[in-house]
Amino acid sequence: MCGIVGYIGSKTASGILLEGLKRLEYRGYDSAGLAIINDGGLVIEKAVGRILNLEKKVGPIFGSATVGIAHTRWATHGAPTETNAHPHLDHSGKIALVHNGIIENYASLRKYLEAQGVGFESETDTEVLAKLIGHFYTGDNLEQAVRSALSEVQGTYGIAVICADQPDRIIAARKGSPLIVGIGKNEYIVASDASAIIEHTNQVIYLSDGEMAIVSREGFRTITLDAVPVTKDVQQVEWKLEQIELGGFEHFMLKEIFEQPESVRMCMRGRVNLREGTIHLGGIANYARELTRAHRFVFTACGTAWHAGLVGEYLFEDLARIPTETEYASEFRYRNPVLDDGTVICAISQSGETADTLAALREARDKGALGIGIVNTVGSTIARETDAGVYLHVGPEIGVASTKAFTGQVTVLAMLAAFLGRRKHLSPANFQNFICALDQIPGQIEKVLEQSGEIRRVAEKLAGRENWLYLGRGYNYPVALEGALKIKEISYVHAEGMPAAEMKHGPIALVNKGMPAVFIATHSSQYDKILGNIEEVKARGATTVAVITEGDSEICRQCDFCFTVPKTIEPLEPLLTIIPLQLLAYHVAVLRGCNIDKPRNLAKSVTVE
Ligand code: F6R
Repeated sequence: MCGIVGYIGSKTASGILLEGLKRLEYRGYDSAGLAIINDGGLVIEKAVGRILNLEKKVGPIFGSATVGIAHTRWATHGAPTETNAHPHLDHSGKIALVHNGIIENYASLRKYLEAQGVGFESETDTEVLAKLIGHFYTGDNLEQAVRSALSEVQGTYGIAVICADQPDRIIAARKGSPLIVGIGKNEYIVASDASAIIEHTNQVIYLSDGEMAIVSREGFRTITLDAVPVTKDVQQVEWKLEQIELGGFEHFMLKEIFEQPESVRMCMRGRVNLREGTIHLGGIANYARELTRAHRFVFTACGTAWHAGLVGEYLFEDLARIPTETEYASEFRYRNPVLDDGTVICAISQSGETADTLAALREARDKGALGIGIVNTVGSTIARETDAGVYLHVGPEIGVASTKAFTGQVTVLAMLAAFLGRRKHLSPANFQNFICALDQIPGQIEKVLEQSGEIRRVAEKLAGRENWLYLGRGYNYPVALEGALKIKEISYVHAEGMPAAEMKHGPIALVNKGMPAVFIATHSSQYDKILGNIEEVKARGATTVAVITEGDSEICRQCDFCFTVPKTIEPLEPLLTIIPLQLLAYHVAVLRGCNIDKPRNLAKSVTVE
């Protein structure tokens, strides 16, 4: 949510900043801006909309500067206008600031500054922080002024600051919003995530909350907000450049849907060992006893990750026989949950930065629960604030609509459930069956993906429909929720997902002629029941679409359209049944002319509550 990039080195800053912004655009794309220092003064340009609009406005004057900061915005305070776009300036026009996060006490700070005669141009909380830094700045104390301003601030921030008086440095600080410093050869890049850095270097340091970096061409220092020096370990980012490029696909979402055979393989690599009949999860190895003895698991997450958590709940109860709940992170943290020593809180998050999930994790750990993470982004805040965890290793997810992260999360949950199950009462034979089935999933996903053309043809027939129902039972109930979320977030059609049986308790009133009702109707334990549900909506004129098990001619006859998945064991079905629904959402959105990778009002990585 919002992207920051800053550059200091010997190259042309504006080029690197604009490239960095394009890489970060998935984090927010309402408006963008950049500031450089040229001939002792700040030069700023801003534009509403995409980075390309900003690029067109950046003139030759930006050419010679070798230091600058830039930002792509997802609006919180104030509409997406040029005035509200970052960077924001202090009253003297010498200090420029870009900011991710929210300054919660901005209204009182603004009042205070206005009383001192400071004027404001924008409606943003960020401008208040810029003006506050200026308020403390006396001409040669930039670092001190930033620290003083931050000590007055409540809320979250990841910031980068430059000052025309001190063109040899960028000051960066974080609390609650991620910030990384990329270390090149006599050049440094400050960014809100690694995608803006890896083209230049894979050596980085991750700032922690309450830390500040003073970055120059010669090196950097890290300190706390009280000016106590901190030593940071330099870490290596494993992402490859091609992972964050389209590589011939039209959209990142489609690329990531098609990456799933490989991303699920990567997720299992070195963990599932068929020959030895074991699952090895290095990240939780030291806590295996505590996890096995836990009397309750709570999964907490948001959006797609929450849907994965729901699948995990079924897996944990089924395989590991541990009572498990899945909680919306935003609700969980504010409702004084009952937690104790034997409870394990498990935060599931692709980005590892989602504010609600992080807050829920902190709340639960404060109450004594052991905290584990199922996270994709290595080094992210949630990953660092858990006692132990399992990374997804599915590679960077750039498409705003989450796809390969979902299958990665379900794969990790399946491995974890089987691992704990085996340590409790899952027999060696049942365990072996389970991991054999898991091992086949990547190849089976490949088969499902072959139907993309057919799914597109069905999408052509249904793309005009405005209301959709997604229905599933058991393990496929969370898939129904996820299918509905996918289509609504990228196609802007109204879709509801629910347990198929719940439909009769109200939502069936919505069903009218031609309404698409998408069933996940595999040949599993509730097959007969779902057949009945299909009849119920057909009788009311719905257009029925079903995801079925290969070779099931009965449902094929009953439904208007069918997509097939290969046979697997029921607990692993979500890894296959979600694929046609991701493709259906994608093709409908393309046909409706929607912006697939930049859906309206959304942004990747929701770092505000
Ligand atoms: C949906 C989507 C969101 C995220 C949610 C959690 O496609 O991407 O619902 O799943 O914002 O994000 P993470 O997993 O980064 O915590």
